[in-house]
Amino acid sequence: MTEVNHVWRLRKRPVGDICEGDLTYDEEPMPEPADEECLFRLNYLSLDATNRMWMSDVEQYMPPVSINAPMRGVVCGTVIQSKNSAFRKGDIVSGLGTWADYQIGTTETVSLLGDTGSVPVIDAFGTFAIAAPTAYFGLLEITKPKSGETVVISTAAGSVGSIVGQIAKIKGCHVVGLTGTDEKCKWITEELGFDEAINYKTEDLSKALERTCPNGIDVYFENVGGEILDTCLKHMNMFGRISVCGLIAHYNSSEEVPGPKNYPMILMNRLKVEGFIILDYMERYPEAIAAITQWMSEGKIKVQQDVVDGLENAVETVKKLYTGDNTGKLMVRVKDV
Ligand SMILES: NC(=O)c1ccc[n+]([C@@H]2O[C@H](COP(=O)([O-])OP(=O)(O)OC[C@H]3O[C@@H](n4cnc5c(N)ncnc54)[C@H](OP(=O)(O)O)[C@@H]3O)[C@@H](O)[C@H]2O)c1
Repeated sequence: MTEVNHVWRLRKRPVGDICEGDLTYDEEPMPEPADEECLFRLNYLSLDATNRMWMSDVEQYMPPVSINAPMRGVVCGTVIQSKNSAFRKGDIVSGLGTWADYQIGTTETVSLLGDTGSVPVIDAFGTFAIAAPTAYFGLLEITKPKSGETVVISTAAGSVGSIVGQIAKIKGCHVVGLTGTDEKCKWITEELGFDEAINYKTEDLSKALERTCPNGIDVYFENVGGEILDTCLKHMNMFGRISVCGLIAHYNSSEEVPGPKNYPMILMNRLKVEGFIILDYMERYPEAIAAITQWMSEGKIKVQQDVVDGLENAVETVKKLYTGDNTGKLMVRVKDV
């Protein structure tokens, strides 16, 4: 094969925001699959808040990307050559790969996406690869929300948060979303059915929580950390639950984010605080996919993909997650299937 491959490689660990030169977009020879491997072409690259953490040499749930290595990402691609009987030419695969046009897959890194029925591949991948299972297990398993309880969600207009809020509504909860623009506030209340939205950038968060959560907070779905967590802690009810899904305020902060001042609330109000990583629920993905597919077909859950074309735009695009310029699931499209 004579085609050139394009690969994003991590050259320096970013300090704070991702800067010019931290990653480079290189032309390289096509990779050749060895025995038990397949070669696939990238269709869609999922951009996730965790990407920034993978660039840093900090304590995390998997090793950071090594310097000079291709950037890691959750990918969806089409097999073009296979030396593994699990994959055939033309199969659509998804899993853990790299920010590269062409890449090698094994049964350890990717699996068949399967028949997506009437759902376009881009929507099935964007919804089910990470966001929907994370929302489903992170809310239902960790916090077990009951009808009538108040659920507060940070980054509520993001890929995970927007689904969490809609599941909480299905469970009969009073749902309040925190997000950073008035447009996103409007979207989650008017389109997605959240009861209340708070623009945490323009409102006094503590006063806004008093107004929107008159009975206090029973469940807080944590995607941010820092001051937002601290303020929510102050409003938690007795025996409240906090699902620690993500800490995006920490990922590209060049300074250490201080611990919560309201930590004593965990003891005084007998709170349960539990972190989780979705990889631990891989075997139960079918359960989440079945439930969310059903809710989507009944019109109870709506999803939105935020798609940017061209792998060359991956670095500029991933920055949108940290500036709040995305709404819903952020992805790069390389070639539609
Ligand atoms: N535990 C797991 O297995 C798992 C799996 C997937 C995702 N996650 C976590 O889920 C969270 C959401 O991830 P996602 O990929 O779905 O991204 P997302 O919510 O679609 O996008 C990120 C959003 O975070 C908000 N944000 C960015 N920087 C912020 C800051 N400093 N303070 C407050 N808000 C900030 C922005 O929205 P606003 O406009 O609202 O500020 C931005 O749009 C992340 O923390 C991620 O790490 C965890």
